[in-house]
Amino acid sequence: MFSKNEQYRQIITEVKALVEGESDITANMANLSAVLHNRFNHHWTGFYRVVNNELVLGPFQGPVACTRIAFGKGVCGTAWQEGNTLVVPNVHQFPGHIACSALSNSEIVVPFRIHGNIAGVLDIDSVLFNAFDETDVPFYEEVCSLISS
Ligand code: SME
Repeated sequence: MFSKNEQYRQIITEVKALVEGESDITANMANLSAVLHNRFNHHWTGFYRVVNNELVLGPFQGPVACTRIAFGKGVCGTAWQEGNTLVVPNVHQFPGHIACSALSNSEIVVPFRIHGNIAGVLDIDSVLFNAFDETDVPFYEEVCSLISS
C-alpha cells in the first residue's frame, strides 16, 4: 500500500513524462484531466480556461458542466479573482457556488499561470464532503505548473 505522498510522487513522474515534449496546452490539459480522474475517481476533473475575461470550459472528465463562469463567480471564478488555490470542504456553504451537478459536495480549484498571468483553473469536484485538504494543495499546484512547462 503506497502512502498518499508516494502516490503523488508517482503521478508527478507520470505527468512529467506525458507533458514532456508537448507544448500544446489543450493537449496537456486533456491528458492531465484523464490521469487525475482515472487515479482518484472523483466526480468531475477538468479545466476552465481564461478566454476574453471569463472562464470557458476546457478538457475534462466526468458529466457535462457549465460552459462559462464569470470573474469572481462560483468557486472557480473566486479562485481566479484571488489568484489562489481554494479548498472547499462543503460547497453548500460556499456563497455563490455554481452547482453544475447536484452530486458535488466538496471541491478544490487551482489556478494556473502562463507567462505570469492566470490562464485557467483546474477544478476537481467530489461527491464526498471534505475530499480535499491543505495537504493536497502542493500536489495539485505542481500538476498545474506542468501544463505549460
Ligand atoms: N463548482 C464550480 C463550477 C464548475 S463545475 O462544478 C464543473 C464552481 O462553483 O465554480
